[in-house]
Parts: sequence; C-alpha cells; structure tokens
Amino acid sequence: MGTWLQRRLLACVGVVTCLLCFYVLCLNTEWPLSWTSIPPRSLHSLTAKISSSLKDFPNRLIIPDLRPRPPQTKTGPELLNQTLDLSKSGSEKDKKSSKHPTDPPFIGDSYISENVPQKTNCSSGIRSRIKESEFGGRFLEHIPVLQWAKHVSPEQYERLRRYPGTHGWGNFNYDTLAGTLSVLNSSANWQMLDDWEAQRNKSECSRCAVVGNGGILRGSKKGKEIDSHHYVFRTNGAVVKGFEEDVGSRTTHYTFSTNTLMNSMRSYAGAGYRGPPVSPETRYVFLPDHDRDYLLMKAAATHTAVERGPERAKDPTKYFGKDVSKEKLKMYHPDFIRYLRNRFLRSNTLKTRYKDIYRPSTGAAMLLAALHTCDQVSAYGFMTPDYKKYSDHYFDNTYHPVGFFANHDLRMEMVLWQQLHKAGLLQLYVRQ
Ligand SMILES: *[C@@H]1O[C@H](CO)[C@@H](O)[C@H](O)[C@H]1NC(C)=O
Ligand SMILES: *[C@@H]1O[C@H](CO)[C@@H](O)[C@H](O)[C@H]1NC(C)=O
Ligand SMILES: *[C@@H]1O[C@H](CO)[C@@H](O)[C@H](O)[C@H]1NC(C)=O
Ligand SMILES: *[C@@H]1O[C@H](CO)[C@@H](O)[C@H](O)[C@H]1NC(C)=O
Repeated sequence: MGTWLQRRLLACVGVVTCLLCFYVLCLNTEWPLSWTSIPPRSLHSLTAKISSSLKDFPNRLIIPDLRPRPPQTKTGPELLNQTLDLSKSGSEKDKKSSKHPTDPPFIGDSYISENVPQKTNCSSGIRSRIKESEFGGRFLEHIPVLQWAKHVSPEQYERLRRYPGTHGWGNFNYDTLAGTLSVLNSSANWQMLDDWEAQRNKSECSRCAVVGNGGILRGSKKGKEIDSHHYVFRTNGAVVKGFEEDVGSRTTHYTFSTNTLMNSMRSYAGAGYRGPPVSPETRYVFLPDHDRDYLLMKAAATHTAVERGPERAKDPTKYFGKDVSKEKLKMYHPDFIRYLRNRFLRSNTLKTRYKDIYRPSTGAAMLLAALHTCDQVSAYGFMTPDYKKYSDHYFDNTYHPVGFFANHDLRMEMVLWQQLHKAGLLQLYVRQ
C-alpha cells in the first residue's frame, strides 16, 4: 500500500514539474507584444490594433484590378496596368533586396504604379540623377506619393488591408476611407507642388528646403537661406515665431499625423507651439496612421465638425485656418510609406517584436517625399553624427538629449541622410 501511494505521489510531482518546465519555456518564447519598455511619449503611434488582420492573408501577391473605371476627373495621373514587383522586375542589381528572397508577408514590396505628369521641365533634377546613383535600384519612378479619390476602390482595399498602420489600410473600414478620399478629387490632391506656376519665378527647377526640428538649427542663422527656396517643408512641433533668423518664416508644406500634431500641441506649448502654421501658401500633408487622420482630413476638406474619435466635434479651422479647403490638403499614399520603409529605411527593428509599430519618422517621410517630388532638396535640422552636441529640438529651452524609441530608427535615418548627401542627391546642413 505504502509503495503504491509513494508511486502516485512521485507521478504527481513529475507531472507538476513538467508543467512548470513548459510554463517557463512559454515565458521565454515570443510573448504577445508588451509596451512596457517604451516611454509613454512615443506611445502615440503604437496604439493601432495591428496583427490580427495580418494572419488572415496568405503570403501571395494580389494583383490589383486596375481596369479603366469611369474617370472622376478629366485630368489626373494614369494608373499603369501593372504592379511593380521587385522580385520579378529586373532589380537583381539591388543586392539588399535579393538578400530577402522570402520576405514575410507584412513587407509587401509590391506597389501600384502611376504616371504622374512632371510639374517642371528640369533636366538636372533629382529624379533624373537618382537613377544613375547607388540608389537607382531602390527608386521607383512611378510610385504614388499622395493618395486621392482615384485610389479608393474595393480592389485596392483588398490589396492594402493586409498592411497595418500607415503602411496600408488594415486599420480602417472601407466607408471611412471612401468617405474621405472621395472628397480629395482636385488636381492639388495628387500634386505635391500644385502651385508651381505661382512659385516658380521663371525657374525651370523646383528648389525645396526641408526643415527638421533638430537642435543643430539653433543659432544657425539659416532663416533667409531657407525662405529663399521655392518651397519650405516643416513638420510637427515646428515653432517659427521667435526663431525666424535661424529657421525662416515661410511654410508651404506642413507634414504631420493627427497623433503627432496633438502630441506636439501638448508637449511643445511651453516652447510656443500653438498648432500648424497658417498662411495663404501653406499646404497640409497628412501621414495617416489612424482613423482620426481620415476623419480630421474629411472635416477640414468639407468645413464640418469631426464626426467621431478623439477629435470628435472639433472645428478643423481651429488647426488649419478659416481658408482651409480641399485644395490645401494632401495625404501620403500607404504604398509610398511602405516603399520608404522597405527600400530606404529597412530597419532591423522589422525583425523584432516591434515590427508592427516601426515606421519611418514623420521627418524622414517628409524629406523622402521631397526627394521624390522636388528637383533640388536642401535639408536643415536633420540629425548628423555630432547630434550629441545639440539639443533634441531647436526650440528646447534647456538641453534635452535626442530620444531613441522602438517605433523609429533615427540612427538609420541619420546614415541615410549622409549617403544621400554624399551621392549629391540632397544638400544636408551641417555645422562647421
Ligand atoms: C469632386 O466631388 C464633388 C462632390 O463630392 C463634386 O461636386 C465635384 O464636381 C467633383 N470635382 C471633380 C473635379 O470631379
Ligand atoms: C498595358 O499597357 C500597355 C501600354 O501601356 C499595353 O500595350 C498592354 O497591352 C497593357 N497590358 C494589359 C494586360 O492591359
Ligand atoms: C516642357 O518643355 C516642353 C518643350 O520645351 C513644353 O512643350 C512643355 O509644355 C514644358 N512643360 C512644362 C511643364 O513646362
Ligand atoms: C524672382 O527672381 C528675381 C530675379 O532672379 C528676384 O529678384 C526676385 O526677388 C524673385 N522673386 C521672388 C518672389 O522670389
């Protein structure tokens, strides 16, 4: 009897030990994402409910249906009848991508292709030079930079809902998308430099100043030089008042996501940031990563209160001025942001559990969009290898070191600016 009981006891102990081992193993393997290691300040872009939609789709290319549909406008870019697929389209030159023969499905290195008529007649522009540069293999001439009415269709929705956040339409329902994008049906919605005729002043080539918020600009006295470009791009907490001598005063393109805008209004109020710049020449470029971007965009384009979400009932003219109209609004195409991530800023973060929250920073998207639309680009206030000498932002009252979070790869962006500068594709401001 005693031995029988002992055996039963031993068996029980064995089972419990096995269960414990199994539990410990589970703890050490990939556990559902936890955000605990990311400071709250960067949580803004992490809130998207991601992964579930990814699992619903097999790893295969869905060729979008791009058959001609009734034109919504008389003029506009033609959608080409093909997708560009790196694995097939003769990009063997591109060693980086051929190292990834079996990309995970969330990468989606396949995009629609669009014939956007060139705004300028510049023979020495970036677009002609980049093809001959080391970046030629990654560059897609026909990538759509901005999304607008012509892009919304059930077929495109099927294709793009595989990608979460700002890289696709995975977080948005079709009605919200269609309700917003259908309003963006003017030619200014698909042209980054829509007022070129008014700005060009007899020039053949468009010159853009892209102004980041880096501390390197404080005391730079670059204001006049910045303002002398045809276009001046700014982003997020760009405080201009009081810093004109260093950063200039014009803003033709202001880039933001609703989340980063609201965070900037909260975080940089002390430095004097009250909201986006407002002037007759200012355009607003949304980087959509949440429903609230589409909702605020629609409200601004139609002069109505925001329907729902965190900005519910807010008056959009409070942010963009009384004269805001759909002609002043633009929105990045998710294919463009995914293309930037995959081909220019393919961070090792994509191999970690933070892959779903990783995206190019707003400033990086702004600078790379300028490289895809302007003939010449000068970049000011972007991170340089001596970044530790400067505060995070030019408008900081006291020294703040640059913060590095999992949702962006600022070091990789810094290296990219150096490479583009060396290749002669942009002029990066550095302190002597
Ligand atoms: C854009 O859409 C509005 C209605 O939403 C319509 O009245 C207008 O004619 C459209 N414009 C163009 C150029 O198609
Ligand atoms: C695609 O367009 C080209 C001309 O742009 C045409 O020659 C070709 O037949 C088209 N292919 C299909 C499948 O429609
Ligand atoms: C570019 O130049 C050609 C011929 O020189 C002219 O026909 C065309 O209209 C010009 N395009 C622009 C956008 O100025
Ligand atoms: C246009 O160009 C002329 C001559 O290059 C220059 O004097 C003038 O200031 C420019 N105007 C503007 C608005 O940039």
